[in-house]
Amino acid sequence: MDTFGRRHDYLRISLTDNCDLRCTYCMPEGKNDFTAAAKLMNPEEIAAIAEAFVSMGVKKIRLTGGEPLIRKEAREIIQNLSKLKVDLTITTNATKVHEFIDDFKNAGIHSVNVSLDTFNKEKFIKISRRNEMELVMQNIHLLIKEGFHVKLNAVMMNGVNTDELLDFVTFTKDHSVHVRFIEFMPFAGNGWQREKVFAYQQMLDVIQEKMTIEKLVDEQHTTAKKYRIPGFLGTFAFINTVTLPFCGDCNRLRLTADGKMKNCLFSKDEIDLLTAIRNGQDIQQLILQSVKNKKAQTGGQSFDLPTVNRSMVAIGG
Ligand code: 5AD
Ligand code: SF4
Repeated sequence: MDTFGRRHDYLRISLTDNCDLRCTYCMPEGKNDFTAAAKLMNPEEIAAIAEAFVSMGVKKIRLTGGEPLIRKEAREIIQNLSKLKVDLTITTNATKVHEFIDDFKNAGIHSVNVSLDTFNKEKFIKISRRNEMELVMQNIHLLIKEGFHVKLNAVMMNGVNTDELLDFVTFTKDHSVHVRFIEFMPFAGNGWQREKVFAYQQMLDVIQEKMTIEKLVDEQHTTAKKYRIPGFLGTFAFINTVTLPFCGDCNRLRLTADGKMKNCLFSKDEIDLLTAIRNGQDIQQLILQSVKNKKAQTGGQSFDLPTVNRSMVAIGG
C-alpha cells in the first residue's frame, strides 16, 4: 500500500530491453546499447524476485520487453513463473508467438496483448522499421483460433495512423479481439510532441461520427475506458495517459530487465533489486520503500515539461 492508499498487486516484468522490431515511439533511432547478458536478471533471479513480490501480495504478473519472446531463456522463465500463484500474462509484438503457443497453454497464460498500430504494410514498416506485418497478423489470427483472450495495443499518433481508427473498430466486428487505442506518451528518444498526441476525445469523436457506440463497464484498476459496437464480437477501449491520467486507481509496479524496480512508468527513481539480491540482501524492505515513494500521478512529472526517464524499450511496456 502506498501513501495514497493504493494497493499494489500487479507487477510487470521486462525480460529484455531488446526487440526484433524498432517501433519509433518505443525504440530510439540507432539504439544499440542493449543491456549485456550479465546485467540482465537471469531466470533464477527473476523467479526469486517475482516470488518476493508474490509473497507481499502481487496477484498478477505481465511479462514485457522490449520483446519478451526474443529473450533466449523465455521458455524457462515462463515455466518458472507459471508455478507461482499469480495470473500470468504477456505483452508481445507477436513475431514469435507461433513458437510459443504450447508454452503459453502449459503456463496457464490465457490472455495475450499484442502491439499492432496499423493494418497497412508500408505503414507497418515505417512505424516498426521492420517488414513483419504478415507474420504478426498470422499470429494474431492464430491466437484467436487457439482461444486466447487477445488485446491489440495501437499507439495512436497524429498524422501517422489516426486514419485507421475505424479500421481497427471494424476489425472487432468479426474478430473477438479487444482493441486498445493508446495515447502517444513521451519517453526518452521517441520524438514526442504534444501535437502528435491524438487525444481520447478526438478518437471518440471520429468513431462516433460514423458508428453507434455503447459504453461498457470498466474493470477495477483498468487503464482502459471500454466500448463496443452493439453486435460486434470484440470491443475497443482508450488508454488516456496523456489527456486523462488514470493514476488514482493505479496498482502497478515494474521491474526492468536489468532488475531495477520502478513504482510508476514515469518514475525518475529506481531501486536496484538485482544488485541487492546478488549481494544476498532481503529485497522486501526495498520493495516497500519503493512503493512508499510512489508519487500521486505520472511519477511526479508533468507532460507540459520535458520528462526525465528511460526510453520505453528500456523500461518495459
Ligand atoms: N506511447 C504509448 N504507448 C506505447 N507503447 C510503447 N511505447 C509507447 C508510447 N510511447 C505501448 C505499445 C506496447 C505497450 C506495452 O506499450 O503499444 O504494446
Ligand atoms: Fe519492440 Fe514493442 Fe517496442 Fe515495438 S513497441 S520496438 S515491438 S518493444
